Amino acid sequence: MRISVIGCGYLGAVHAASMAELGHEVVGIDVDERKISALCAGRAPFYEPDFEQLLGHALESGRLSFSTDVADATGAQVHFLCVGTPQKHGEYAADLRFVQAAAESLLQVLAPGELVVGKSTVPVGTAAELAAMFSEKVPGALLAWNPEFLREGFAVRDTLHPDRLVYGLPAGGDGDTAERLLDEVYAAIVARGTPKVITDHATAEMVKTAANSFLATKISFINAMAELCEATGADVKLLADAIGYDDRIGRKFLNAGLGFGGGCLPKDIRAFMARAGELGADQALTFLREVDNINMRRRIRMVELAREVLDGSLLGKRVAVLGAAFKPDSDDIRDSPALNVAAQLQLQGAVVCVTDPAAVENSRREWPHLDYAATPEEAAADADAVLVLTEWRQYCELDPVAFGALVRQKRVLDGRNALDREAWTAAGWTYRALGRRVG
Ligand code: UDX
Repeated sequence: MRISVIGCGYLGAVHAASMAELGHEVVGIDVDERKISALCAGRAPFYEPDFEQLLGHALESGRLSFSTDVADATGAQVHFLCVGTPQKHGEYAADLRFVQAAAESLLQVLAPGELVVGKSTVPVGTAAELAAMFSEKVPGALLAWNPEFLREGFAVRDTLHPDRLVYGLPAGGDGDTAERLLDEVYAAIVARGTPKVITDHATAEMVKTAANSFLATKISFINAMAELCEATGADVKLLADAIGYDDRIGRKFLNAGLGFGGGCLPKDIRAFMARAGELGADQALTFLREVDNINMRRRIRMVELAREVLDGSLLGKRVAVLGAAFKPDSDDIRDSPALNVAAQLQLQGAVVCVTDPAAVENSRREWPHLDYAATPEEAAADADAVLVLTEWRQYCELDPVAFGALVRQKRVLDGRNALDREAWTAAGWTYRALGRRVG
């Protein structure tokens, strides 16, 4: 099939290359010339395991191209909308400017019988508005909503092997046509028996925000338990293990620590609350405000914990921060809890040196006043405390004995409950973590 993908960020670029991998002829469109020229040259504009290999393979096959000109999307049977929906400045609501601009640009090329497929996370009701616009301007064009659940760090795997497909379809015969087209796009995935949920536009839009809200709630739940554990001397990691054995609860997404960040969960729960307010249903989601509050408190608590281990004062203390990305295997620093803590420590007088295997360049651009180091060893030189704030594998595998020789004071704060507490304490470190007893 001929496919266009409008928007080549994390979602769109991976989607475009994956669709080419599935055998389609794909053009990726983006207004950002730098991004497009990198992609054309086979370079990933962001850190994502396996993506560059997939991109190279797809470009070599001749089935994948990129362009800044939407005219190159002419003739595609299916057009995917993959642009971002960031949080509006100073508001909870999502900023739909890019969705609107992408949809309007598609009007230049869209023909009757072609299918537009929304993948971006949008407030419920957006698809209905877009469908009305398309049917007015291009009668016979179709719109489906097909949310994407990919996680950064696993984007390629999640796109090629999704755990479910959700099709939000128009009613009647148009819906049948749209379903047939989507089945053809995802033929290899459908053939594997991947569960498929067929629904309307509004439900499909809500599936995504509901899923992200549930995940955020699960994380904030265990972090609330961590607050209680700290108040009682209980251990949140063992608590999570114990409740996680109940398969109605499950152990996944019960890792207590610094909480969630990134370009999705924080802004998606806020946009969901804003949309509920507009719909007169804000009461249904007031609990998400608490989910957000618990999450933000974790960052403040981490700074307090650092002050505590640094004998009550941050002033002039050397702090090594290991991790800047919002999670491992990513260079994404959007709403990164790690950088937020690093910046607060710096503002309160500490001398902070941050390191990250992939995100130093992005961090330096956003937070130029922090010091940066290429390696954890360099960051930790003469440190009064080491904070592990993103659980990169290489940080979890550090040798606490050798690492102890570099620092001034062997104090480690495990912001992600990811280190081997026994090994670190055995090597003479004072170990502290959110929701756990002093080690
Ligand atoms: C998320 C959703 O998982 C994905 O389905 C959706 O498409 C986009 O948003 P992503 O933002 O890539 O994906 O990251 P995810 O792996 O979900 O982690 C989000 C945040 O939660 C990270 O900051 C992570 O460190 C934190 N987290 C995750 C925890 O604090 N504890 C956990 O147990 C799990």
